[in-house]
Formats: sequence, structure tokens, C-alpha cells
Amino acid sequence: MKICIILGTRPEIIKMSSLIRECEKRKTDFFILHTNQHYSANLDKVFFEELKLPQPRYNLKVGSATHAIQTAKLLIGIEEVLLREAPDVAVVEGDTNTVLAGALAASKLHIKVAHIEAGLRSYSRRMPEEINRIITDHISDFLFAPTDKARSILLDEGIPQNKIYVTGNTVVDAVYQNLILAKKRSKILENYGLAKTKYFLVTVHREENANDKKRLIGILSGLKLVAKKYNFPAVCPIHPRTRKKIQEFKLTVDSAIRMINPVGYLDFLTLEVNAKLILTDSGGIQEESCILQIPCVTLRNNTERPETIEAGGNILAGVSPNGILDSVDKMLKKKKTWKHPFGNGLAGKTILDKLEEIKLL
Ligand code: UD1
Ligand code: UDP
Repeated sequence: MKICIILGTRPEIIKMSSLIRECEKRKTDFFILHTNQHYSANLDKVFFEELKLPQPRYNLKVGSATHAIQTAKLLIGIEEVLLREAPDVAVVEGDTNTVLAGALAASKLHIKVAHIEAGLRSYSRRMPEEINRIITDHISDFLFAPTDKARSILLDEGIPQNKIYVTGNTVVDAVYQNLILAKKRSKILENYGLAKTKYFLVTVHREENANDKKRLIGILSGLKLVAKKYNFPAVCPIHPRTRKKIQEFKLTVDSAIRMINPVGYLDFLTLEVNAKLILTDSGGIQEESCILQIPCVTLRNNTERPETIEAGGNILAGVSPNGILDSVDKMLKKKKTWKHPFGNGLAGKTILDKLEEIKLL
């Protein structure tokens, strides 16, 4: 069986890392196709180095563009590689444009598609990711759902049950495999003069937040309220999209909000695990905060990770300043007793077991 692992952005590199390691361990015939949707070193190279991943056999250097142009370039590049390599299965993870194009190109060539993190729904088609998720799930042959909830969403949409496998989420593998290393190696708290549990950690990058001036102003005002009330800095490793938009909209950022460049995984895990609370619109960070038992306030009106809310580790705040402050107050009163619902940290192994079990040829 020959496997093509398609990835292109920061979260895909992190969440595919355990499957890649498992393929290496078992000497599986596999290769990595990197679309380079993310190309800045701090969104790309740093993760290959830190996670000790093999170099991709192909790098399409697609980069940034509008949705249509980026997706078109992805499709063209991915199809060429798939035609040349003729893998038995193409594996994609998550909901990015890379995932959509990978699944679409492979399925049209009658190459089996395996979708990791299948069955997530925010029920908001304003999110480009929601469209990517729905299409990818419906053209996939093997759907690796992280939770029973995700599985039941897929069943409700008419996807046959024999295509669906509940595996847990590979993000747990990544957290468990790197946390001890992070504790040993990361010097980020010292470097930024941060004391454990005496800062908030913030990330914002969703298109519907970063590209909307009113929503971005709401978030920045909310962060200022939170930082002032608790007298802690809000440390914000800022995605380049958001940095650009703050400049373009000429927004002022209060000095209590410390904008820093995106950091590597070991540093980010260290920032997460020592934060008082995390405020984010990221999917992966909602999961990681739940896993690490750090309270999370989600800067959105919906989430495709409702399990984190049901577990008690997350709350939807929206983007109004007072809504954000209220949500922080509520989450800080909670006892950190929740258990995360994303599995035992062996998702990568389980997924490869399943792929080997399923007769592809
Ligand atoms: C993409 C995914 C999103 C995922 C996120 C992970 C889609 C539709 N979106 O969003 O689901 O949560 O990655 O971080 O696939 N840029 C750089 N350097 C880079 C990459 C991007 O400076 O390496 C800047 C460019 O100005 C670019 C903007 O960020 O226009 C947005 O990049 P893009 O890949 O379109 O979307 P993300 O916001 O990164
Ligand atoms: N992350 C990181 N450095 C940062 C910000 C995030 O390593 O400066 C990691 C984080 O731990 C998580 C992943 O990136 O594993 C989340 O990616 P992102 O928020 O970009 O995308 P999403 O999960 O929303 O698709």
C-alpha cells in the first residue's frame, strides 16, 4: 500500500506528525506532498524541524491567494503528483483549502481518500472551512472521526457507517509526544519575562474575525478589558493575516496586549500550559486547551468543537468586549476537573492500523 500524506498549513503539519512517525516506524511506503499553503518559516519550517519530520518529496510552493486562485493552483499541482506517483490512498487532515483540493484531486483520479478529523461542523457557511469540511467528508472513502459526536453527524448526513472510524484526534498524540520535551527545552517564559499563570494567551486568525474591522475592534477592546481587570498581560503570537489587517485597518493595540511573532510548537505548548486562560478563535487551540486543562474562551459565535464546551473547558464568547470579559470571569470561576474527549494519544497509530486493515488494493 502506498500512502500520500497531503499537508500544507501549520495545524496540518502538527496534526499529521504522529501518523508520519508511525509510517516511518513501520517502514510504510509513504511520501509527503507539501502544498506550501503556509510558507513563512514560523508557520512551516519550524514544525518540520522541531517535530523531526522527513522532508516532503514534493513541495508545490502554492502560497497565498484568493480562495479560487489558491484552490485552483492546489488542484493542478496535487493532480500532477498523484498522476506521477499513483498512490493507493491520499490522506488529508482538517478543513483547509489544501484538504479540499487534495480530496477533490484524488477522488477524481479514483484514488481513495482518507479524511482525518472528519465530521466536524460549525453550521456556519460563512467559514470557508465549513465548506471544505462538508465537501471533503462527502467525497472521502475513509472517514476518521475524532469523537462519537462527529461520527453521528456524518451518519445524519447519510454517510454509510462502514466508511466511518472513531479514532480520537491526532492533536492528543502531538500534545502528549511533545509536552515533556517542551518543559525541558522551551525558554519562552524567561525570554518574554512571563510568570506562570500570570498572563493570558491569545490567538486570532479566522478569516471572519481578522478580515472584519468591527469584529477585530471588538476582540481588541475585549482583550484590553480583560488585561486591565486582571492586571495580567495578554500574550498574542499573531498570525500574519491578523497582523496585516490590524495595520490595514489602522487599529491601535493597547500595550497590555503583547503582540509577538508566531512561535514554534514547543514554545506554544509551554505558553498554553502555563497560561491563566486562553482566548482564541483557533480550532486546534480549543482542543489543546481542553486537553491541557487550561480554561478556554472562544472568540467566535459557533464552534465545530462543541465537545470542549460540553466537557466544561470552553465557552463561546462572541466578539463583544463585555461578552469576552463575562466569559473570562465565568471560566476563571470554574474548577479544572474536566476530562477531554479526544482519545488516548494513539490516534495516528489507530489510523494507520485501520488503513492497513482495509483492503485498498
Ligand atoms: C489557513 C486555513 C485555516 C487554518 C489556518 C491555520 C484555509 C481556507 N484557511 O488560514 O483553516 O486555520 O490556515 O493557521 O485554508 N500568510 C503569510 N505566511 C504564510 C501563510 C499566510 O504571511 O506562510 C498570510 C498571507 O498574507 C495570506 C494570509 O496570511 O494572505 C492568509 O493565509 P491563508 O493560507 O489564505 O489562510 P490562513 O489564514 O493562514
Ligand atoms: N501553534 C503554534 N504556534 C503559534 C500558534 C499556534 O505552534 O504561534 C499551534 C497550536 O499549538 C496548534 C496549532 O498551531 O497545534 C493551531 O493552528 P492554527 O490556530 O493556526 O489553526 P487551526 O487549528 O485554527 O486550524
